[in-house]
Amino acid sequence: MGWLLYVVTLLVWVSTLQTIDAILPQPPVRCDGTVCIVDNAYGIWGDRKDCYVNNVVYPTTEEELRLAVAYANKNKLKVNIVSKFSHSVPKLICPSTPNHDSTIEDLIDDVEVTAGAYWASLKANISTELGSKSLLISTAKYDSNIEVDSENLVVTADAGVSLRELIDKVEEAGLSLVASTYWEGVSVAGVISTGAHGSSLWGKGGAIHEQVIGISLVVPATKSEGYAKVIQLGAENDEHLLNAAKVSLGLLGVISKVKFSLERGFKRSIVHHYTSDANMEDEYINHAKEYEFGDIIWYPSKQTAVYRRDSRVSMDTPGDGINDYVDVQPSSILFSQTVRVREQQLESARDVSAKCALADFSLDRKRQVATGLKNNGQNFTEYPVIGRQGKMQTAGSCLYATEDDVSCVWDPRNNGVLYFETSAMISATKFGDFIRDVKKLREVVNPENFCGMDLYFGFLIRFIKASTAYLGQSEDSVAVDFAYYRADDALTPRLNQDIMEEIEQMAFFKYGGRPHWAKNRDLAFFNVKSKYPNYEKFVAAKKQLDPQNMFSSEWSEKTFGEDEDVVSSDGCAMEGLCVCSEDRHCNPSKGYFCKPGRVYSEAKVCRFSPSSME
Ligand SMILES: Cc1cc2nc3c(=O)[nH]c(=O)nc-3n(C[C@H](O)[C@H](O)[C@H](O)COP(=O)(O)OP(=O)(O)OC[C@H]3O[C@@H](n4cnc5c(N)ncnc54)[C@H](O)[C@@H]3O)c2cc1C
Ligand SMILES: *[C@@H]1O[C@H](CO)[C@@H](O)[C@H](O)[C@H]1NC(C)=O
Ligand SMILES: *[C@@H]1O[C@H](CO)[C@@H](O)[C@H](O)[C@H]1NC(C)=O
Repeated sequence: MGWLLYVVTLLVWVSTLQTIDAILPQPPVRCDGTVCIVDNAYGIWGDRKDCYVNNVVYPTTEEELRLAVAYANKNKLKVNIVSKFSHSVPKLICPSTPNHDSTIEDLIDDVEVTAGAYWASLKANISTELGSKSLLISTAKYDSNIEVDSENLVVTADAGVSLRELIDKVEEAGLSLVASTYWEGVSVAGVISTGAHGSSLWGKGGAIHEQVIGISLVVPATKSEGYAKVIQLGAENDEHLLNAAKVSLGLLGVISKVKFSLERGFKRSIVHHYTSDANMEDEYINHAKEYEFGDIIWYPSKQTAVYRRDSRVSMDTPGDGINDYVDVQPSSILFSQTVRVREQQLESARDVSAKCALADFSLDRKRQVATGLKNNGQNFTEYPVIGRQGKMQTAGSCLYATEDDVSCVWDPRNNGVLYFETSAMISATKFGDFIRDVKKLREVVNPENFCGMDLYFGFLIRFIKASTAYLGQSEDSVAVDFAYYRADDALTPRLNQDIMEEIEQMAFFKYGGRPHWAKNRDLAFFNVKSKYPNYEKFVAAKKQLDPQNMFSSEWSEKTFGEDEDVVSSDGCAMEGLCVCSEDRHCNPSKGYFCKPGRVYSEAKVCRFSPSSME
């Protein structure tokens, strides 16, 4: 145990160094001469292939945004949209292969007269050569306007405004945004576009797009309209288009402004209730009914469930608490690297019990610090922790640091932790059966084998109400997230990967889970269209607003296209690019073969089986 104590001591020591400040995440678009590389915040896409673009613009006003779309329309360029930090995991923003058949129209510069300098600058910078027929629009510099209308309880913000800035402005005016993600490092347009959520079955529920009551959208237009126009979608004038635009993955047009509804300011009171997981499959729904913002963290290896008893309290309740969620606190580079190296060692040694010891340590620590809740903004002393909604709902202190050896733990520049995150939204009525199945699997394989997941955050269980958004949840749903080790190369197996794959396939195939649009591995999106009863309405809205299909990506064409390309390359199942059907889809040379699931027998998973090795 000596080595373990050493690692634990080192971790404690390193994590107490996580003090003052960090550095900003790297920009997702980085250019070198003529070509730019586009990343997400983790610096790695599902297929590990880089994404390149030739043309990037950074509009600062709505009119510049409109001109950029007009220029692209006129020159038949595909358009993709990226936010300042790009926190989505799937490759939503990589341009589709240029359409080499289209011919470039002679530029008749009739709009130039009115468009002036910005148009001239677009013309100077953007290549319309074959092979670079796409334009990436970044909202990184379109982030200045936030207008709070206290009388009507609404706020309107530019697409690139960060969620934290929005919330701070709203709270300054004595108001609160009811629903949002737990992570604040997102832009207002990006976060609604992927259906992101917190947790609630009350009111309009946990999804942030449910608070949206208006969107300004820049869409292509005719030549006489100037090639692009801004349309205002509100519930009163076009419910259909608003339902399409709320969760639209950048496929309908460029969102310019988002209008959210607000409530009078309130506080929250949070207690983490640690208990046995014995009745979770029956309890989860009562928990959601009883606590407005309740969630559950389930640690299967520990037979433990942590119920977050989280309720609204009035503004005059004493308490100035904050939720400085531990997993998004500034993390030193050394910490991230130490964890990574340790995890790599335990993976290759197949050392399950050492993983459990690490998980124990990490869970104890999280419990001690109440996962980052702080009563007075500084320390955790006792439950309940009570604070303003704006300080309790969403977190991200790793984003604001200035010292150069701390950052968010996943920052790719550190060569630190790297993981997959699965996130499925399962019908609230079926979720109990999903838990029962996972428990059955745990009985068959032994709870220790879940330590690899508990080392991250176990199963995070949250609630979302049925939505009218076409790509939102069509019924009350339970979102379940879990994360696990991802190796440095695609073919390296993961310890217990068969268990994680079986749970993943249960979630998406057996229980029909809908994948979070901003997380997950490719297989989660197989057949996703069929899970959205209003998918055809989304397509109709797209045809109306974007008849030429300007807004599309490699990912959207693969995911929503007519013929689903089935990947069947060697090793494709190792990172979820396919579900295995032959051994070669796994990694036979490392002893991983394609086998049926243990509880969900229709699942096909890559399982370690040393005896079958030649
Ligand atoms: C630590 C962490 C915690 C997280 N926690 C949660 C959570 O609690 N709940 C949750 O649901 N999610 C969570 N997420 C996921 C997160 O919500 C998504 O990654 C988020 O949607 C990304 O927003 P973004 O601004 O980075 O957008 P991007 O990733 O840049 O873009 C997302 C999509 O929106 C489109 N888009 C962006 N801007 C526009 C625009 N102006 N017009 C049209 N389309 C646009 C893009 O084209 C793309 O398709 C978390 C992520 C991290 C890293
Ligand atoms: C064109 O490039 C110049 C020089 O890099 C830059 O200052 C300008 O903002 C760019 N224009 C557009 C529309 O991106
Ligand atoms: C609160 O935390 C700070 C550091 O964040 C520490 O210096 C201080 O001693 C703590 N106070 C108490 C009462 O624990």
